[in-house]
Amino acid sequence: MDDLAGLPAVGDLNAGHQISAVTDEDISPLSRQDNSPDASESGGSLLLSSSAGQSSWAIYAFTVADADLFSLKGQIGLDPGEGYWLAVANAASGRWEFGQLLQSTSFSRNITGYESDGHLISGTTLYFAMVAYDGDTIGIVNLSASVEFPPVLHSISGQVKDGSDAALQGVLLIASPGGATTNTDVSGNFSFPALEAGVYTITPSLASYEFAPLNASVDISAGNVGNVNFAGSLMAAPTWTADILPLINGSTGETNCLMCHSGSLPAAGRDWSIYANVRDNSALINTRVNLEDSDPFQMPQPGPKWSQANLDLFQAWIDGGKLEN
Ligand code: HEC
Repeated sequence: MDDLAGLPAVGDLNAGHQISAVTDEDISPLSRQDNSPDASESGGSLLLSSSAGQSSWAIYAFTVADADLFSLKGQIGLDPGEGYWLAVANAASGRWEFGQLLQSTSFSRNITGYESDGHLISGTTLYFAMVAYDGDTIGIVNLSASVEFPPVLHSISGQVKDGSDAALQGVLLIASPGGATTNTDVSGNFSFPALEAGVYTITPSLASYEFAPLNASVDISAGNVGNVNFAGSLMAAPTWTADILPLINGSTGETNCLMCHSGSLPAAGRDWSIYANVRDNSALINTRVNLEDSDPFQMPQPGPKWSQANLDLFQAWIDGGKLEN
């Protein structure tokens, strides 16, 4: 392609040239440099008319940082004759990559964009040239680039302490959406080191503890966020009357167990409206309510599984001695 030496050297492509700062998908024909007067505007399209043995070109700059993959697409309005080239500047090799001669009125080419591939000059800008050659004329009517970005990852970290300002170890923290989990360490610290940029709700839980705040909304669109702190305090031991019967009979919003477990159904002694029955079968109940929704033995039927807070509450009731009142 020595005859196309009219293109500037790749090493000369830099911010000093007239370039666009296009970050959306449209690449305007105006954001270019060209070897005018061989290039001219006509009815919204850019005409590249080359004379015999000569090239006519227009260089476009598409500026976007940290892109993974560019897909360049274009449409050529006129019959491209013998063909035209799409040349992509590669700073690593210092060369224009011409690829194959294009002969169709539309084209599409994928270009990886990481700096290591050399296609992002100064880490931000992809330069490409449309080239007509040796008497051919092309009319560029449409150029666009779609860009894929690698996910941007940020961290969320914080600390959980108890009522006497001591570190609380072993607190489970859940980040939603996504459901990532982590636990506090001996110092009460926790960290989600690599979450995709976005807004998350972080919810702490530990059996027998309640937390203030209940959860925290954390926006890591712009960067890492720390100091997402919670205070945990030991709940008063739950009782049958205040906590467990309302959980079993559905008044706290879970499925009402008594729809099926009152009177003699499904079997005598499985009447969960009676304190002594639940007390004596608490281990069995605990096993069944901790099964997953997909398990046919899970209770309540037909689900859904109790919330983690209610599973913790039932466990806390057992741990606290299954108090009646
Ligand atoms: C829609 C009816 C229905 C609902 C609601 C229901 N169960 Fe059951 N449960 C059954 C049936 C039927 C059985 C017996 C078959 C089995 O063991 O799965 C049963 C069995 C059990 C058993 C095992 C009993 C044994 O003797 O082995 C436990 C424990 C239990 N349920 C707890 C609960 C709890 C706690 C709830 C509420 C959170 C609940 N169930 C809600 C229908 C129901």
